Amino acid sequence: MLGMTFDVATVRSHFPALKEGAAHFDSPGGTQTPELVADAVHSTLVAAIANRGTVTAAELKADEVVTAARHAMGDLLSADPAGVVFGRSMTQLTFDLAHTMSKEWVAGDEVVVSRLDHDGNVRPWVIAAERAGATVRWIDFDPESAELTPDDVQAQLSDRTRIVALTGASNLIGTRPDLATIADLVHATGALFYVDGVHLTAHAAIDVSDIGADLFVCSPYKFFGPHCGVVAGRVDVLERLRPDKLLPSSDAVPERFELGTLPYELLAGTTAAVDFIAGLAGDAPGGRRARLLASMAIVERHEDRLRERTEEAVEELHGITIRSRARHRTPTLLLTFDGRPSDDAYGFLAQRGVNAPASSFYAYEASRRLGLGSAGGLRVGFAPYNDDQDVDRLIEGLTDFMLR
Ligand SMILES: Cc1ncc(COP(=O)(O)O)c(C=O)c1O
Repeated sequence: MLGMTFDVATVRSHFPALKEGAAHFDSPGGTQTPELVADAVHSTLVAAIANRGTVTAAELKADEVVTAARHAMGDLLSADPAGVVFGRSMTQLTFDLAHTMSKEWVAGDEVVVSRLDHDGNVRPWVIAAERAGATVRWIDFDPESAELTPDDVQAQLSDRTRIVALTGASNLIGTRPDLATIADLVHATGALFYVDGVHLTAHAAIDVSDIGADLFVCSPYKFFGPHCGVVAGRVDVLERLRPDKLLPSSDAVPERFELGTLPYELLAGTTAAVDFIAGLAGDAPGGRRARLLASMAIVERHEDRLRERTEEAVEELHGITIRSRARHRTPTLLLTFDGRPSDDAYGFLAQRGVNAPASSFYAYEASRRLGLGSAGGLRVGFAPYNDDQDVDRLIEGLTDFMLR
């Protein structure tokens, strides 16, 4: 589809939304959607389709859609398709899994969460721990450097640790903890490692075994897909868990975790999104997994270049502080403005068709730890469809804002 050098104009042509004219730096909240993802949703909705089964063509169609989506997510995350669970959102899946796991926790057990995380990977664990009488321990991060280190994690582990829930990348400041090293520490205690990959999956090639995640969660709407959530879990771990379920519904893994009828149209859209990403590296050789790796490598280069350009320009502007400074990070900038609320910049840029929202983006603890309360900052996130003109518009907007 696209040449090996990243052809951003061709990428952009797949997104009808971009024709509305805004420069989108709001992708960490959810990307725009390529036409072919919408087409897959539409064609699945209007096709003859029934509940999954093996008798009619309509039943088989639903089954094919589900199987294809599990394989697509398996390729994207290098995960076993048999451990791919679909749900409404990361938040819903995490609440459900925390509830299920907590049925086995007892007083004295320890549940470890972090101050860097989106609240979707904090509150479900805290609430479940409180209900079970388990103790919650908090991994801190350094607000100056924006780093969360393996030592910060080690400090909260003990032989009573049952689970460590940690983000693969902060949706507020982009920090990417060293997951593989942390996973070894977590596993040495015998605990499970639950990784929030919602922000990371849009920006990096994922291999759940390399990361060492027992359960890895992400949301396709952050990478061109529809609004749903996905957990890729180790099958042996999922087999051990007993979620609340209806009597007649399947007790097989992964179906055991999927409450009610799956949204077939959204699953078809998810497969289309994964195929779209695999096509970003043009006619790279190999199967879908190999093409996904090639795509994510050029996406990372493209997004990092735009991020660096933006950072250099922002550094020239006096009165703006860049809060996202970790060594290893996604292309996600958090900016604050000396003596002025970030909301003012958000509104000013929006009037010029530059969409960079200001908030704490549900990273409730992280924003407070950074000293930004609930206001957070202005978040500039990059997606594969951003181009140099978008960056020009952002920089001009910020420059004019600082002159006011
Ligand atoms: C890092 C991170 N975790 C979790 C979530 C919540 O995801 P969902 O909307 O699928 O519940 C988000 C959404 O912004 C996020 O950025």
